[in-house]
Amino acid sequence: MIQVQIDQRKSEQFAQQMLSVLNHGAISLMVSIGHRTGLFDAMASMPPSPSRQIADRIGLNERYVREWLGAMVTGRIVEYDADRRTYRLPPEHAAFLTRAARPNNMAAICQYFSVLAGVEDRIVECFRNGGGVPYEAFKRFHEVMAEESDQTVVAALDQTILPMVPGLRERLETGIDVLDIGCGSGGALNRMAQLFPKSRFTGYDFCKDAIARAETQAARLGLDNVRFRVKDVARLDDEGPYDLVTAFDAIHDQAAPDKVLSEIARVLRDDGTFLMQDIAASSQLHENMDHPIGPFIYTISTMHCMTVSLAHGGMGLGTAWGRQKAEEMLANAGFTSVRVESLPHDFQNYWFIARKAPQAAQAACDPAYSASGNARIETAPPGASPPSGTDRHRRPARVESGV
Ligand SMILES: C[S@@+](CC[C@H](N)C(=O)[O-])C[C@H]1O[C@@H](n2cnc3c(N)ncnc32)[C@H](O)[C@@H]1O
Repeated sequence: MIQVQIDQRKSEQFAQQMLSVLNHGAISLMVSIGHRTGLFDAMASMPPSPSRQIADRIGLNERYVREWLGAMVTGRIVEYDADRRTYRLPPEHAAFLTRAARPNNMAAICQYFSVLAGVEDRIVECFRNGGGVPYEAFKRFHEVMAEESDQTVVAALDQTILPMVPGLRERLETGIDVLDIGCGSGGALNRMAQLFPKSRFTGYDFCKDAIARAETQAARLGLDNVRFRVKDVARLDDEGPYDLVTAFDAIHDQAAPDKVLSEIARVLRDDGTFLMQDIAASSQLHENMDHPIGPFIYTISTMHCMTVSLAHGGMGLGTAWGRQKAEEMLANAGFTSVRVESLPHDFQNYWFIARKAPQAAQAACDPAYSASGNARIETAPPGASPPSGTDRHRRPARVESGV
């Protein structure tokens, strides 16, 4: 029998770590409920108040609210005055928990845990038998995704994202053709259609309910320059050509991301731009050790991004396919120049600005592509991290310096 030596200190530290896992897991679920019920939004504008007042403010059941507050107080999210029996959400915490805190509302992101938990049985089955869980099995996925996208994409399109591509705003104002791949609930495309009435926008997604959400929003906004279609983007047929193709967080979970990238290159005009937002990570596990949301990324991958791809017999790249793999696949698809940017409000993602045109044509419309030579990759400059902000905004050193 093998004698195993136990390092007592290490063992005790790990026990503490597991207690913390237990508590933080529980808090995540309760934070999600705080978001969905509107409790955080209500408490942010209330003075220290008893549970009855908080519940009444938004018409909730007091007994449930009081129990939820117990989790919030012991979880150090809400402050409690034991003498007065009042609860207070400090403004420093509200800044990360309310709808008004967009794009920093982390409570919206906590909703993913219950979305993922809804398919746990099926994922366990996949561990035993392989295969995957398809998109349609995920309850509320498109709703939660739309909220995340609203923070990382929609809110920043006009001022931050589009200006990354020199001359793009001007071209959009004049009138160009835009395609969004895996458009989901269509928030980004509808926003662009609103901002640029002379341009024409097309959104494809293979989920009917996502397209229905997108069309409803377009109708509500009275947009006549945007159309949404249920379509598998691995087969764009004879679509196009387009001046701009976008893919917001929609490549790594494809069944055939290689085909999709080739299709994008094919339907893109020679002087067009492919703008791809995808997860900021390294393709190498050991280089993600200091990633601020490493466990979250691999969890989302196992229980969503990888499995939805495998469900269609796909590559199952996973959420942490990483920058190196992304650059390699973009090059294989025919993109001769790729610039990678990071944005202060969106530490979770890289922004790939890809082109397939000859260097001379690129240089004419974007000085950032002016170097001569063959296919080249430009990287986000080391130290291009956001000037200030919270931990949430700070990208890990390894990612920052270009993996
Ligand atoms: C992570 S979501 C991102 C959605 C949207 N771009 C956003 O930012 O909110 C990925 C989207 O890609 C869609 N998708 C995945 N594979 C697809 C395929 N082969 N054809 C069309 N849509 C696909 C999914 O239905 C989902 O809406």
